[in-house]
Amino acid sequence: MILLGIETSCDETAVALVEESRAIRANLVLSQLAEHRPYGGVVPEIAARSHLEQLDGLVARALEESGLGFDDLAGVAATAGPGLIGGVFVGVMTAKAIAAVRGLPFLAVNHLEGHALTARLTDGIDFPYLLLLVSGGHCQLLTVEGVGRYRRLGTTRDDALGEAFDKVAKLLGLPYPGGPALEAAARGGDGAAHALPRPMLGRPELDFSFSGLKTAVRHLVAGLGAGSRDGPIDPQHVADIAASFQAAAADVLADRCARALESFAAETGRPGPLVVAGGVAANRALRARLGEVAEAAGTALVAPPPALCTDNAAMIAWAGLERLRLGLTDSLDFAPRPRWPLESLPKGAAA
Ligand code: KG4
Ligand code: ZN
Repeated sequence: MILLGIETSCDETAVALVEESRAIRANLVLSQLAEHRPYGGVVPEIAARSHLEQLDGLVARALEESGLGFDDLAGVAATAGPGLIGGVFVGVMTAKAIAAVRGLPFLAVNHLEGHALTARLTDGIDFPYLLLLVSGGHCQLLTVEGVGRYRRLGTTRDDALGEAFDKVAKLLGLPYPGGPALEAAARGGDGAAHALPRPMLGRPELDFSFSGLKTAVRHLVAGLGAGSRDGPIDPQHVADIAASFQAAAADVLADRCARALESFAAETGRPGPLVVAGGVAANRALRARLGEVAEAAGTALVAPPPALCTDNAAMIAWAGLERLRLGLTDSLDFAPRPRWPLESLPKGAAA
């Protein structure tokens, strides 16, 4: 069984072909970075137009490069939300058109479920597991009990962690997109150079908060008498602040995950595993730290390769496959959703 997956919810146009055996036959990602860079962020209209221009060609390329044809497909999956709605429409309409013409099942995949199930594609793990979902729009801890079965243990009260990385990078004058640039800058810095706050550390609830940390960096940068308006900051300062921010973020994630693993074990009788997903999960320093947390709790960290942490269509094809196997297909009048919480998905049977 092979599924075609389409992802267009943000600034990546992506197409993939994935087999039930977990083999990834094609995984193409066209980044629109260059188109959005002059604006310092994603411009929804530019994104939607670019998806529209690129998507058909990318589908054809994926089939051609993998030596497959439409006749080999068992279904077509597309991200149907949450995300920038113009782009989501482009992906969903394309998938529906292929499904209608070829008489194939259509699967409306929730983007967050794509991230959440990636570890089953890459590592073949079983339910249940504890999931830390950290991306540009989300920072949540969830118990994953089955396809569509998510129980939220905690979430951010303000910024998502990826958003905090992006904003801090901007304050430091680092290029867009901020997350990877900040990680690179931090490599040359001292994480103990600045004592930054660690919001929520030690608190019993499993929530996050990052706006105080971001504000502290803003004050720090202002205190240096430098910043985007006053000219560039000295590169060593940039490296030290980046490393200090990353160290604070790592401490917060480690504390929250250690506590969440305790609740997970108490509830399920299993120590883990701890799975990390979403764009921020590509960060090597954070992955290393979470690996230590898992080890201390007697379990393993499962972290997909970085290219499958950031947005891609292999995760969408895989989530579609998981749904198709359970008979959870969608009708062609499924309407794309700009907001679509994980807790509201159609559910498979409990594991
Ligand atoms: O999952 P994703 O690709 O898109 C969303 O669904 O949001 O996540 C994008 C976010 C951005 O905020 C980006 O800066 C962050 O993930 N990110 C990183 C790294 N790579 C991507 N943050 C920290 N370190 C990285 N290496
Ligand atoms: Zn994402």
